Amino acid sequence: MWPYSKVIAHRGGGTLAPENTLAGMRCGLAHGFRAVEFDVMLSSDRIPVLMHDPQFGRTVRGGGRVCDTSAAELAAMDAGAWLSAEFAGEPVPTYEQVVEFCRANGIWMNVEIKPSPGFEQETGEVVARFTQQLFAGETDVRKLPLFSSFSYAALRAAQGAAPGIPRGYLLKSLPADWAKQLRALEATALHTDHKNLTREQAAAVKEAGYGLFCYTVNTPERAQEILGWGVDAFCTDRIDLIGPDFAG
Ligand code: G3P
Ligand code: MG
Repeated sequence: MWPYSKVIAHRGGGTLAPENTLAGMRCGLAHGFRAVEFDVMLSSDRIPVLMHDPQFGRTVRGGGRVCDTSAAELAAMDAGAWLSAEFAGEPVPTYEQVVEFCRANGIWMNVEIKPSPGFEQETGEVVARFTQQLFAGETDVRKLPLFSSFSYAALRAAQGAAPGIPRGYLLKSLPADWAKQLRALEATALHTDHKNLTREQAAAVKEAGYGLFCYTVNTPERAQEILGWGVDAFCTDRIDLIGPDFAG
């Protein structure tokens, strides 16, 4: 049901390193994490890159949009200085670079498909097809990434393009018809905000046979509590407080 690690480094190195960068991946690894979540978006030339926000301004300076910027231009942009001078010059990595790093280091990936508005279907399709190529011949499901997305359309497209790559549906809170939506997506897991989850909902998701993943849990006390509810796994920004072996 959940054949992966229980504790997952959020966006690479949580809050200790710039999110969605190779420096973030190295930071997670340095803290012993062999499981990571990161966000993937398309550049203007339809190359999957690591990025959370569709517009610049927070992690990358400026005011443009990712969907109007090529992967080559993104590779020359600074995605590290916003956090601290130590990371200045850290580029926006391509998804391919990050997959290569993770596979070389035995790091499992939860690939969150994060489409720019209006690019939901295309992002799901391109990321899924590309992942299929990168992992061609991989028969061990524990080594395949797990896709997740808040976008139903993106996950539907991923399902069509690469049905063999597992999917988790990301929901801020559980609607009444969550089970129906998971069935339509042939999803293996439900991903949700721990703040909105109840013990009863957790039990219902597990009873229905799905993996249950929570974002983003930053205190050991809360992590312990939801694990007690049957939650399978969670991601954390505080990789310094909650280690990879926290859940045993
Ligand atoms: O995939 C879990 C979590 O990353 C979802 O929210 O906004 O941090 O990408 P967000
Ligand atoms: Mg994410």
